[in-house]
Amino acid sequence: TRVLSVASECVPLIKTGGLADVAGALPAALAPHGVGMRTLLPGYRGVMAAQGTAAPVVAELGDLFGGPARIRRAALGETALYLLDAPHLFDRDGGPYLGPDGKDWPDNPQRFAALDRAAAIIARDGIEGWRPQVLHLHDWQAGLAPVYLRQLGVRDVRTLLTIHNVAFQGLAPAHMLGALQLPAHLFTPQGFEYWGRISALKAGIVFADKVSTVSPTYAEELMTPEFGMGMEGVLADRGADFIGILNGIDLKTWTPPYSDTKGKARARAALRAEFGLPEAAGPLCVVISRLSEQKGLDLLIEALPALIENGGQLAVLGAGDPALEAALRAAAERNPTGVALRIGYDEALAHRMIEGGDAILVPSRFEPCGLTQMYGLRYGTLPVVSLTGGLADTVINASAAAMGAGVATGLQFHPVTAQALARTLERLVALYRQPELWQGMVANAMAQPVGWDASAKAYADLFNSMTTA
Ligand code: ADP
Ligand code: GLC
Repeated sequence: TRVLSVASECVPLIKTGGLADVAGALPAALAPHGVGMRTLLPGYRGVMAAQGTAAPVVAELGDLFGGPARIRRAALGETALYLLDAPHLFDRDGGPYLGPDGKDWPDNPQRFAALDRAAAIIARDGIEGWRPQVLHLHDWQAGLAPVYLRQLGVRDVRTLLTIHNVAFQGLAPAHMLGALQLPAHLFTPQGFEYWGRISALKAGIVFADKVSTVSPTYAEELMTPEFGMGMEGVLADRGADFIGILNGIDLKTWTPPYSDTKGKARARAALRAEFGLPEAAGPLCVVISRLSEQKGLDLLIEALPALIENGGQLAVLGAGDPALEAALRAAAERNPTGVALRIGYDEALAHRMIEGGDAILVPSRFEPCGLTQMYGLRYGTLPVVSLTGGLADTVINASAAAMGAGVATGLQFHPVTAQALARTLERLVALYRQPELWQGMVANAMAQPVGWDASAKAYADLFNSMTTA
């Protein structure tokens, strides 16, 4: 099956979160299953600088929302990568979604509508003699593609929308219908209208042939008012066409350089030194995270005494919300031997932290899948997670039953409160003091399959069924 993946970020070219890892890993993971996936990505300034001028133009799209646009061909590993080269939309400093001032680009609706229209044109005309049978659409940034497909009269190309995070919905004011070249007759509550505005995410949910999200538990949660953020009804209406497929992690990028406790001990000592933390009797915990409300780090700050006063330590790498940055900095100043902080984005340091940590903490309020707890499993860095979304699907809690059966891989807490987290951090420290139990969990964690195998097969089966149905 020929599939065009349409994404707003993709490793190794541009990343703000897990979506980039997933979009970057899927083409290679799907190839052995008979899926030929190519990727369409916006030609952001940094991406074009790295690939751009050498990348040949393979299609001219003419005017796209106020300026000329063309498709250039580059490569993503073994597979083709198409860059939407539209300087008026993408050739600027700043991030993929936010300007240098930290605010959404005001023309985000046009920028990602352009990506979606380019995808629909490729679906209609083909590119380099290759025509996709399915569009794999990631998040709201790709949500309008099914609408443009209809508008262009393309009826033989199927669509799958994958929701990585329902918190981002791609809303635009109604007066932009014309500017975005959207069909006004679909601007209804049954279509892509959301309380008087255009919702790119809702367009994808309503008009894609199939909808998926990145874990089975998040799929269930998304159909409830507590987690659905207004989309619970339209998602529930999709019935069996809405499913959860768990993410995997890239095992080549994430492979521990050790397999024994000595290697872990060396990495732990190096990490303490790097963060300026002294030796300690308790576990060295790590956090690698966007700093946002979603990730629940305010709960961790509140629960911190339960870890620190029992001999544990915390090293944090993250960037985002300035208030959270400040709160973490204050916590580190209060506990100079117990808490250390690095603000910023640093892939290499993230690797060293997963290597050297004893436990990785992911206290999210909601978590569609989450990748760092899976890195933790692979490295025997035991995950301590809230019982939600993909965190519920990937960690086996050290309950009495699971410990008795010898299958536990981490700790889960519920409800998602500072109190429950504090009690779980106490459990963590107690387990750490029982090396036999701890090492048993480490072995279980490291043996758990966290690669793409099973899920790549699930996506491939889905794509294949869509083209034969
Ligand atoms: P989300 O996509 O919601 O941010 P995920 O756990 O799915 O959460 O993916 C986050 C990805 O970004 C992981 O690969 C993680 O290692 C990485 N990451 C997050 N913050 C940082 C940071 N400050 N430095 C390096 N990597 C980070
Ligand atoms: C989102 C989610 C995260 C998920 C990632 C990749 O950013 O917040 O839980 O792992 O997408 O699907």
